Amino acid sequence: MNLPDLDRIDPAALAQSFPPDFLWGVATSAAQIEGAAFEDGKGASIWDRFCRQPGRINDASNIDVACDHYHRYRDDVALMQGLGLDCYRFSFSWPRVQPLGQGAWNEAGFGFYDRLIDTLLEAGLQPHATLYHWDLPQALDEGLGGWLSREVVARFADYAAEIARRFGSRLASIATHNEPWCTATLGYETAQFAPGHQSRVESLQVAHHLMLSHGDAVRAMRAETAARLGIVLNHTPSFPATPAEADRRAARIDDGLNVRWYMDPIFRGVYPADAFEYVGADAPSVEAGDLERIRQPLDFLGINFYTRSLFGADGKTVPGPGRRGFTDMGWEIVPEVFAQHLVRLAREYSPPPMFITENGMANADRIIDGRVPDAERIAYLSAHLQALATAMSLGADVRGYFYWSLLDNFEWNSGYDKRFGLVHVDYATLERLPKDSAHWYRDFIARHHARR
Ligand code: NOJ
Repeated sequence: MNLPDLDRIDPAALAQSFPPDFLWGVATSAAQIEGAAFEDGKGASIWDRFCRQPGRINDASNIDVACDHYHRYRDDVALMQGLGLDCYRFSFSWPRVQPLGQGAWNEAGFGFYDRLIDTLLEAGLQPHATLYHWDLPQALDEGLGGWLSREVVARFADYAAEIARRFGSRLASIATHNEPWCTATLGYETAQFAPGHQSRVESLQVAHHLMLSHGDAVRAMRAETAARLGIVLNHTPSFPATPAEADRRAARIDDGLNVRWYMDPIFRGVYPADAFEYVGADAPSVEAGDLERIRQPLDFLGINFYTRSLFGADGKTVPGPGRRGFTDMGWEIVPEVFAQHLVRLAREYSPPPMFITENGMANADRIIDGRVPDAERIAYLSAHLQALATAMSLGADVRGYFYWSLLDNFEWNSGYDKRFGLVHVDYATLERLPKDSAHWYRDFIARHHARR
């Protein structure tokens, strides 16, 4: 695929290449920014507990306060309005609105999202919500065994229906899950994320339950709302490190376990045969009718894209050459893979309209003379937007882009050390300071809006 020179991007011309109704936004999630972890009746989540287990979080931090968005949401919405955004992607905290994950609802928790959504609408920002961005009510983990239990599927569908009933008419879209691969693999196989288990058989059973809960939630929500319904998947395309057959096979299997493991059941109603065979006895138990329940008509597909994986012969990932460098997470910067991958999805799956629900970089940002000069982020952002425009010109139907993230925030097991925000957060004072990239994005969006 021929991409224009990514080092010489003309923002004015690039802005012109997006269709007039293309939407620009930013994304966040509840556990990473809200704080107020035990206020107004919120129940504990598995991340509230995980942070308290020694050794789990690199900087030994927790999410009791995070960015204090729960109390500062009005300022944060004003910041987004100042950037001229069209839309905002956030997540509901399930334990904030239903502390035990079943039974009683918490009106004070709903009150927060009610105010947030109204504030967004008054500021002219479309709200795009996610139901599950990893903060399972702790009570469901203790009582039922969390996502390992099939019973949680029904609890999730109840929660989804309640959100749709209360908020559906004011939400532009609702995604069931954010990155189920991460919930399943990092939470139950590699132990990097809550609840910190280490078992492949568990991880694949969890993935199955997550997809089942997605399908059942979509069906339950259809009865309650006309909002657009979908799911957000993270795709890290897999490449062989060398042309050797062993490397190619490792990359194919990984593609089966991360991209196709979710895409195939959700859009085709089948598990990918090669990867299913590869996992052997670790394969999930699938009951009759499950795959039909998983495969529901969707209104959109959210794609989160950050990097790719390279596989060496022993099946292990190896660092890429990093021609365009690496982010502060150590992730290789590969905008051309972003373009290729979107075109592949369009060709192989004919998915519903896509949104880029996350894309962004962690960078070692510092305040220097009252500014945050994050030229690296501007380069990352402009290269990925150029790649996106190219993919769209080659047939990928993408309707909007959400930068991850509005604010520096809690980067899961990395703690607060990794900064993804367009807006810098000083964790001692909680003061917000838009970085140079925020100004760049604002100007870029203004250029695009000028053609509406
Ligand atoms: C994916 C996740 O959805 C988000 O929570 C996380 O902070 C970013 N990627 C960056 O790792």
